[in-house]
Amino acid sequence: MNVPAPHSTLTKLLHLLIAAALIHQLFISLIMVVPETNRPGDSYFELHEWVGVLTLWLLVIFWIWTLVRRGETRFAMLFPWFSATRRSAFWADLKAHLASLARGGGPLTEESPLASAVHGLGLLIATAMALTGAVGYFFPAASLLLEVHMTIAPVMWAYLTGHVGVALLHQMAGHRILQRMFGSGRNGNAQPDR
Ligand code: HEM
Ligand code: HEM
Repeated sequence: MNVPAPHSTLTKLLHLLIAAALIHQLFISLIMVVPETNRPGDSYFELHEWVGVLTLWLLVIFWIWTLVRRGETRFAMLFPWFSATRRSAFWADLKAHLASLARGGGPLTEESPLASAVHGLGLLIATAMALTGAVGYFFPAASLLLEVHMTIAPVMWAYLTGHVGVALLHQMAGHRILQRMFGSGRNGNAQPDR
């Protein structure tokens, strides 16, 4: 079986920071008071603003890292849409996953074109959130982008819920996926139990 390559320390660190920042952004948005013409925003909104800008930088670093890193998921795996071969690997993997689900079996464990493509979409959604927030807020002429920001917010929630849910399913199936992404050293690079 084609076992997934271990994640590098930089991938793990960036993923941890981005995950924490996005969770912060989503939850603080539930309680923050947004500024209006005759009312300033509260300190939760200021946190949303600054952590949001920080997240944008973290995402820029992650994008560059996906382009230059070697020995782990390649950029083309995260975005298979531009190559016929990678697109057909994606569809084949999607079918394999659906068949496995229909059999009542757990999630598959080999390097997955489906999982990587979904991670790529997650990266795109997160970047769209950070960009529309920052540009829409700091450039009043582009304030329409804040409408886009609000519109895609539920998609970010859906991604976070689905991504964490699937990660937990893998973990419960004994694939040690959380150790792979959040652990350090040998333990962090542990291969899935079969
Ligand atoms: C909204 C916040 C998040 C985003 C945007 C995000 C995005 C990503 C991306 C892009 C990858 C692929 C990394 C790579 O190619 O190197 C990934 C992998 C992973 N994420 Fe997240 N993530 C988020 C939150 C979380 C959280 C909270 C968890 C905790 C359960 C988690 C668990 C994982 C795991 C276990 C993997 C590794 C999957 C594997 O080894 O195949 N993520 N995530
Ligand atoms: C980094 C990722 C970000 C995420 C995940 C995020 C998430 C959210 C969410 C969930 C909402 C509430 C949407 C609703 O109530 O329907 C929101 C609102 C808002 N966010 Fe963000 N945000 C991010 C970055 C930013 C940045 C960088 C800024 C500006 C510096 C910003 C400024 C705003 C503003 C002004 C609103 C209120 C919009 C309005 O009510 O018209 N956000 N954000």
